[in-house]
This record gives sequence, C-alpha cells and structure tokens, in this order.
Amino acid sequence: MKALILSGGHGTRLRPLTYSQQKQLIPVANKPVLFYAIEDVIEAGIHEIGIIVGPNAEQVKKTVLSREWDAEIEFIYQGEPKGLAHAILVARDYLGDDDFVMYLGDNILREGIVRHLEHFKKGNFDASILLCEVENPQQFGVAELSEDGRTIKRLIEKPKVPPSNLALVGIYFFRPIVHEAVASIKPSWRNELEITDAIQWLIDHGYKVGWTKVEHWWKDTGKPEDILDANRLILDDIETDIRIHTNARIHGRVIIEEGAQIDGSTVIKGPAIIGRNCVLRNTYIGPYTSIGDSCVIENTEIEDSVILEGSEIRNAGRIVESLIGRGVKIMNSDNHPLGRKLVVGDNSQLIL
Ligand code: TTP
Repeated sequence: MKALILSGGHGTRLRPLTYSQQKQLIPVANKPVLFYAIEDVIEAGIHEIGIIVGPNAEQVKKTVLSREWDAEIEFIYQGEPKGLAHAILVARDYLGDDDFVMYLGDNILREGIVRHLEHFKKGNFDASILLCEVENPQQFGVAELSEDGRTIKRLIEKPKVPPSNLALVGIYFFRPIVHEAVASIKPSWRNELEITDAIQWLIDHGYKVGWTKVEHWWKDTGKPEDILDANRLILDDIETDIRIHTNARIHGRVIIEEGAQIDGSTVIKGPAIIGRNCVLRNTYIGPYTSIGDSCVIENTEIEDSVILEGSEIRNAGRIVESLIGRGVKIMNSDNHPLGRKLVVGDNSQLIL
C-alpha cells in the first residue's frame, strides 16, 4: 500500500500568505498542516509516500526533508494544478499496481485514518471514501448512499438540494482500477480532472465504492477562518509542556518551546503555544493562540490567533481572530502625523 499526499495547487483563497508559501506549509499549532497528513499515513502503517508538488515544489521538499520520517518519501512534480484526478495521472508510474490512499495535504482529520483503512481492506471495495456530517452540505461534494447504505450511489458537487448531509472528506482509498477511471474522464467546466468524476466512473461501471463516517472533527484548511478553526481544534487537545523558566502568570494548558524569554508581567491563558526563541514582554496571550518561532511581542494583547514565525508586534493594542504571516511587523507610532501607516501586500484583509 502506498500514499499519495497532495501538496500542489495555488491556494488562492489563502492569499496573500500563499504568494510566498505553499498553503499546506502554513502551521496549525506550530506544525505545518502537511505534517498532520504524513503522520496519519505513517501511523496507519504506510511507509511509501509520494508527495505531489506544484508551484512551490522546492519549499515543500525542503520543509518535509527537514524532519526524519519513518517512510520513503518521493516528490512527484505536477506543475499546473489540473485537478485531483490529474494528480493521480501524473503519479501513475509511482503508484504502479499498488492500492493507495490519496490524502489532500490541506486536510486535518483528528482521528487519523487507521479505522478507515481497515474498512477499505476488509470490505473488498474498489474504492472507499470518508464522509463527514456537515451543517451546510450545499457547500461540499455530497454523497447519496445506496438503499442498503453500504455503498455510494452518486456524488454531487455543491448540490442545491442535498440528498444527505454527508460531505466528501479529502481522503480516499483506491485500488489500481482508479487509473482506468482517471484516464477515461474528461475535464470539468472548470477545466480540472475531478476526483468525484473518477469515483462516479467507478460506480457507473459496476465497481464497489464503500465509505466510512468521520466520528471526530475534520477540517479542510482552504480559507483563513479554517486555519483559525483548525488551530482551535488542535489546541483543544494539547497538554502543558513548558521548557523554560519564567515568572509569567500562566493559566490552563500551555506549550512553551525552548529558548523563549517571557517576562514576569506577561500573562498567558491556554490553550496556547509559544514557539522557540520568542520574546514576550508585558503581553497578554489569550486562549487559542499559536505564536510561531522567533516572534517578538511587546505591550500587546493577542487572542484566538495564529502568528507565523519571525513576526514583531509592539504596542499594537488588542489583536483577535487574526492570521499573521511570516516576518510581519505591527507597531504603534507615537510620531506625527497620527493615523494608520500601512504597507500591506496584495489581497490582504485588514478589519480595523
Ligand atoms: P483545492 O483547495 O481545491 O485547490 P487549491 O489548493 O488550488 O486552493 P484554491 O481553491 O484556494 O485556489 O485543492 C485541494 C488540495 O489538493 C490542496 O491541498 C491542493 C491540492 N491540489 C493539488 O495538489 N493539485 C491540484 O491539481 C489541485 C486542484 C489541488
């Protein structure tokens, strides 16, 4: 069994962060989203992993290879993102005649894939998908189940009248027959080879497509608010681990990494994580906040936010529900003229 993890695509909904970095590398609770997928796959006993890379291939390779993994990892260049089924097409030689799990590198699934893989293996399915109950099925790919509820009858993209509230998760198990499906389908109206069309091809040609239901939470981190949501969900499960000495007031579950300097007038209310070599002075860090490595934060309150590494925030008042990129500087000027002085990249959002 192999794994194909997708880390290509343009990530337009996460601009401006994705102008300079691949979206699957954005950290949630100080760990790149992509690493959650790799860990899940290895936990399920799969040790041959192909990672699909696209526009920022070198960045993805460098980040993945900065850690040791109990797996052989190969990178497969997709180039232009022409769809999820196109990723299978370009990985044809790598996948050979093995069964595989395809895992979208921007998805996080709290429970991992072990139980889902077992079901795929035991049920003798040609493909098996994961479904998650959602409140707004109109915004997802949705499954219509067979009469006995065991297999999938139809997949419908963003249905106006959803046949169920079961949304398609970005994790799929396939037998090699999927290669025939992928080679047979045509690009959709948005000019992509759609994975839903490939799965529908399997169903229409009499192949058995099973499914399992997600029991804990699942998050597709496509938009800024999804990153904040995923960060809350991951931080909900952390245990306290404080690696430094500090006189700061700390409440609740907090992780503080090595090298951080935090003064006695700082207050941290967990769940929160403070990265390596951060400097925090006279600052309040509130619940559901992740501060990346080497940030400097002074005289500021930050809550329910994700701050990426190397950012400097001084005298900035109160920052809430924010996603702040790498090396960002936010500070308050005492000089005239008073007012907000902004140097802001394309497609940024400022809510003042
Ligand atoms: P999407 O979120 O559908 O696409 P995207 O990453 O281009 O984002 P946006 O819509 O904001 O522009 O992709 C789902 C996942 O699959 C994501 O991890 C990127 C990856 N992907 C590829 O690797 N190759 C592709 O051809 C496509 C379409 C997506």
